[in-house]
Parts: sequence; structure tokens; C-alpha cells
Amino acid sequence: MGVAERPWRRMRRNDVPAVDGLGGVVHPAFYERPEVFLDRLALFPEGALVCDAPDAAFGIAGYAIAYPAPLAAPPPLDTVLGRLPADADALYIHDVAVDPAFRGRGLSEGAVWRLVDLAEARFAAATLISIYGTPPFWRRFGFEQRPDLIDPEKLASYGGEAVFMLRPCGAQTSSLGPRT
Ligand SMILES: CC(C)(COP(=O)(O)OP(=O)(O)OC[C@H]1O[C@@H](n2cnc3c(N)ncnc32)[C@H](O)[C@@H]1OP(=O)(O)O)[C@@H](O)C(=O)NCCC(=O)NCCS
Repeated sequence: MGVAERPWRRMRRNDVPAVDGLGGVVHPAFYERPEVFLDRLALFPEGALVCDAPDAAFGIAGYAIAYPAPLAAPPPLDTVLGRLPADADALYIHDVAVDPAFRGRGLSEGAVWRLVDLAEARFAAATLISIYGTPPFWRRFGFEQRPDLIDPEKLASYGGEAVFMLRPCGAQTSSLGPRT
């Protein structure tokens, strides 16, 4: 089976040590505690995915985490939420990470399209904060840069390269105008 065909499945609580291990390698400057992954998994299990890979350093080739959030107010990094905000109208893609040994072969597409399909079915938009110069990657899935929608202070903790991106989804688009 090619890398791109490897299946993604729902994350389970006992995957969190592997997710934490891979997250530490992929995001050394943006560490988030395992409690954060456990929190999102409990709050929105359909948005938490992993791709098994017994041959990978942590036993997974990648993970993805998404959950409902207010359109232009994703939560700060490393924050345990406890509950989802009542005014969540977007599916916020918090993180998609692929083990460096599995990159460049389309593996992440399976996870991203699954999350986009989820957003199309249930939300007005999918949003994310792009880091590491990844906007061209996200544009492939229909995301566009929308700096007009977000308070620049919310991006500060993500470093200078951080860019807010949005993909309109579903039928309710009334809240997609610029930030006032
Ligand atoms: C972004 C990321 C999830 C993409 O996953 P992927 O499965 O490698 O995606 P693709 O195979 O479609 O490759 C995406 C791009 O990565 C680059 N790439 C190609 N080979 C690569 C390699 N061996 N190592 C790193 N990047 C590579 C290419 O620019 C490629 O685009 P192209 O196919 O148009 O040339 C993955 O690179 C990653 O985990 N990066 C670090 C975390 C991150 O940036 N997450 C998103 C934050 S918003």
C-alpha cells in the first residue's frame, strides 16, 4: 500500500502518548500538553484522527485534530477547554502533523479531506492558522488567507509566519464578513 493510501482512523485515548511524541518532534517551538489532546478528543472525537504506522518512530505516521470554534476566535495554544463554546460556527483545524519520514507522498490529504467533508456537512466554514509557510498546501483544499477576519494579537503566539485561513463550507455564510 502506498503512503497516500494508508487509512486514517478515529483517535483513541491510548493513542495520545504517540500523538504527544510526534507533536514534540513536529512542533518543538509550540509544545502542547497531552491534556490538550485528551480534552479535544473528549469534546469532539469525530475531529481527532491518526494514521497507524508500525514502522514509524511513534507507531503513527500522522495525526489531525479539529473541533468547533467561533469563526475568528480559535483558542490559544496549549489550552484545555473543558467544553466547546456555544457560539462555535466553524470547524477549526488545530493541527495536522505528519512524521517527517512519511512526508511529501500525499498522506495528509486523506485526513484533510475527511475534515473538510465534516465541515461541509455541519459548519459555515473550516478555519486554521497556517504556520511554517504552509498556505500553498492549504490552498489545495480551498482555504484562503483571511487576515481581515482575525485580531493580529491572536496570531502572535504562533510566530511571525502565522496566517489565518478560511474555507467557506455549507449553507450558512452570514458570519463570514470582515471583523468589525
Ligand atoms: C504540512 C504537512 C501536514 C503535509 O503533509 P504531507 O503528507 O507531507 O503532504 P504532501 O505529501 O501533500 O506534501 C505537501 C508539501 O510538502 C512538501 N514536501 C515534499 N516532500 C517533502 C518532504 N520529504 N519533507 C517535507 N516536506 C515535503 C512539498 O512542498 C509538498 O507540496 P507538493 O506536493 O506540491 O510538492 C506535513 O508537511 C507536516 O506535518 N508539516 C509539519 C506540520 C505542519 O506544518 N502542519 C500544518 C500546520 S498549519
